[in-house]
Amino acid sequence: MSQVTIESILQEKRLFPPSAEFSQSAHIKSLAEYQQICARAQADPQKFWAELAEQELHWFQKWTTVLDWQPPFAKWFEGGKINISYNCLDRHLATWRKNKAALIWEGEPGDSRTLTYAQLHREVCQMANVLKQLGVQKGDRVGIYLPMIPEAAIAMLACARIGAAHTVVFGGFSAEALRDRLVDGQAKLVITADGGWRKDTAVPLKAQVDKALADGSVPTVKDVLVVRRTAQQIQMEPGRDHWWHDLQQGVSANCPAEPMDSEDLLFILYTSGSTGKPKGVVHTTAGYNLYTHITTKWIFDLQDTDVYWCTADIGWITGHSYIVYGPLSNGATTLMYEGAPRPSNPGCMWDVIEKHGVNIFYTAPTAIRAFIKMGEHLPNARNLSSLRLLGTVGEPINPEAWMWYYRIIGGERCPIVDTWWQTETGGIMVTPLPGAIATKPGSATLPFPGIIADVVDLEGNNVPANEGGYLAVRHPWPGMMRTVFGDPDRFRRTYWEHIPPKDGQYTYFAGDGARRDEDGYFWVMGRVDDVINVAGHRLGTMEIESALVSHPAVAEAAVVGKPDDLKGEEIVAFVTLEGTFDPSEELNKELKKHVVQEIGAIARPGEIRFTEALPKTRSGKIMRRLLRSLASGQEVSGDTSTLEDRSVLDKLREGT
Ligand code: PRX
Repeated sequence: MSQVTIESILQEKRLFPPSAEFSQSAHIKSLAEYQQICARAQADPQKFWAELAEQELHWFQKWTTVLDWQPPFAKWFEGGKINISYNCLDRHLATWRKNKAALIWEGEPGDSRTLTYAQLHREVCQMANVLKQLGVQKGDRVGIYLPMIPEAAIAMLACARIGAAHTVVFGGFSAEALRDRLVDGQAKLVITADGGWRKDTAVPLKAQVDKALADGSVPTVKDVLVVRRTAQQIQMEPGRDHWWHDLQQGVSANCPAEPMDSEDLLFILYTSGSTGKPKGVVHTTAGYNLYTHITTKWIFDLQDTDVYWCTADIGWITGHSYIVYGPLSNGATTLMYEGAPRPSNPGCMWDVIEKHGVNIFYTAPTAIRAFIKMGEHLPNARNLSSLRLLGTVGEPINPEAWMWYYRIIGGERCPIVDTWWQTETGGIMVTPLPGAIATKPGSATLPFPGIIADVVDLEGNNVPANEGGYLAVRHPWPGMMRTVFGDPDRFRRTYWEHIPPKDGQYTYFAGDGARRDEDGYFWVMGRVDDVINVAGHRLGTMEIESALVSHPAVAEAAVVGKPDDLKGEEIVAFVTLEGTFDPSEELNKELKKHVVQEIGAIARPGEIRFTEALPKTRSGKIMRRLLRSLASGQEVSGDTSTLEDRSVLDKLREGT
């Protein structure tokens, strides 16, 4: 975040209480009601979650233990049998929702499709049966590498239905990144498409899968199921590759949901950290189902007549929790959009809202800043009066963008829920409940009921109001990640050892800086580790550095974030070259391309700076703090006495 933004956030005093009209019909109607629920949850957390689990979900068999907490390992609802695909589909079929739109899909270029609950159920059962025919069994992992098409949701629900865990890989990741994830997750099968539409062009996906699987580099993958989307030319390998539309022919639409143990693996989703390769965040069945269900219901205040649209990609946790599982578990109508604003159609988002009468719209601050730049004449030219609630996620929102969103998109009548959470938390943790909590532009406001969030120092003490500290969570919650796939030790080290246990209570370290104001409102300031947030996408600096040094010209690389008005942060890479290579514009371009190839376009450095040496401490650690200052054009301040060679800094300064 830019300095300007932090300043403006610190001075932000505006308060926006919900309108009486909104509160009256909301699930949670007042601050007093919110406080009562929180008090109940705090007095007896297990009773609180157990009551919700009983009321809100279908169980094949009730649990025997609500919570088994062996810090940092939690088990929720042990002894219970449940299936999230059943909760998202089957249970609605017995009600009037059977013929309600479950999924509205707006595709590119101009395609569109609506699936009722009955139709979605049918397709999910068919895909589940196809997976079974191809030998996928309960406990197996399935890779999903798809564009934003209904089959992405169908594939996830089909896996969940038969007890296979999915690992969705964002379609913008490269073949290399896909391969790493399939290898780590030991996927047995991959579901992909020939291609997907991105800003007026058809991008290849199956070709990337071929590259990822080339030369048997993912030996566990036996089959590839291919959805036809763009009808582009692709290679089909006999015996391994199968068209979905071929296998769908004649397959039964009857596939009972497998009763799963509460703690059975539901999915793995890879996310960047400050060290090593992306980690496989593990989410299990019952707790995740409950947490995404109840957060969707209360935070988005879902009503049965709503059309709800979350603009995230299915490849991220937001797509998992708040396009697919949370909304469908609630029997909602969820909208999925394949497109994005582009020069040929800059107002497309507002067209979608107008066309479908969208009531709830959930997007990222980076998108809002892009909308601002494209001009308010675009939304002003559409009828957005159907909207009644807005949301944001993924990065801190600057108050200016919040106000624009409130005025121009929300017509000053829609509450905004600024939702703080992470891949690891499974669902939203700090957020307004829109009928109950007055909002302040730039603040995620208060913890969700049952969540004991705090701002602490590194000893685990609460910091006083308005002082900066680390965002932490004190008590386990049902949606929390259970472990890092295949590496429980990394789970413990990354999240539970930064802050020492206090009075026997373990504390979850989120990696974000935050402060609480005098009203207890949270103001999230951004990452405090070597993770950068580019356009709401989370990237580990080390991953990008590893990609750079895998190029023969690069000796060393250090990557930092630089504030960017549009994307929040921009990637700047400082690079030293191997002896025989000289800096050049060409090499600069080639290195950017190399990073795209290794990780994906989201990791393309905005800037590469060649340098003779990197500033290091005497023990050889790169001083990123200095590089961050240099990258953002600020004076290098603070202690530089640990710098091994001061001339390095002077040279870097001259180069800038
Ligand atoms: O830094 C925080 C930021 O996004 C990180 C989590 O990224 P990821 O796991 O990719 O999940 C993104 C979607 C949930 C957090 O550590 N972040 C997320 N939401 C907010 C936010 N920062 C400030 N305000 C938010 N509302």
